[in-house]
Amino acid sequence: VTSPDQPVLPAKTLTELAERVATCTRCQELAEQRTQTVFGVGNPNAKIMFIGEAPGADEDRQGEPFVGKAGQLLNRIIEACGWKRPDLYICNILRCRPPGNRNPTPEEASNCREYLDGQIELVQPEYIVCWGSVAAKNLLNQDVSIGKMRGKFFDYRNAKVLCTYHPSYLLRNPEAKKPVWEDMKLLMAKIESDARD
Ligand code: URA
Repeated sequence: VTSPDQPVLPAKTLTELAERVATCTRCQELAEQRTQTVFGVGNPNAKIMFIGEAPGADEDRQGEPFVGKAGQLLNRIIEACGWKRPDLYICNILRCRPPGNRNPTPEEASNCREYLDGQIELVQPEYIVCWGSVAAKNLLNQDVSIGKMRGKFFDYRNAKVLCTYHPSYLLRNPEAKKPVWEDMKLLMAKIESDARD
């Protein structure tokens, strides 16, 4: 069991990191209320990593990120890009569901950061998509609206990071599908041009 005052050595594999996450009690409220932790899924050597906000009720029940309504929309976006979900690596800022789907607190995001950075370190993605402002602001440590962060690339460690609107936001605001599709086209073009270089 890990606690904030017990620094731990970096995990050597995703399996080892997932085992640590499964027993984490750094955020007492989340640890008490979760059904299970939601670590991440997909290709451990993925070129593209998706980062969302936090598990919702469906994810908490099933133990996998983006399996509810937002996840179904995300799957359609993945298909439209010509990608396959198992080829990507999908995770979140938090590995536990915040009660009632409230936003993660800064302390929760900071408690879970070591796990996110561990996943990035082990997967070594070339591209990261931050879905929504919680992912974008937390990963890049910025306090700028998602509308201002989208449409361009940031650097994080060795990855190029694109930020765009969260699929849950798209479900409530279908007009935002257009800018998201523009962002996806930007990423696909970047991947193609990097492959030519
Ligand atoms: N929303 C997220 O940000 N992540 C999930 O895993 C599910 C819904």
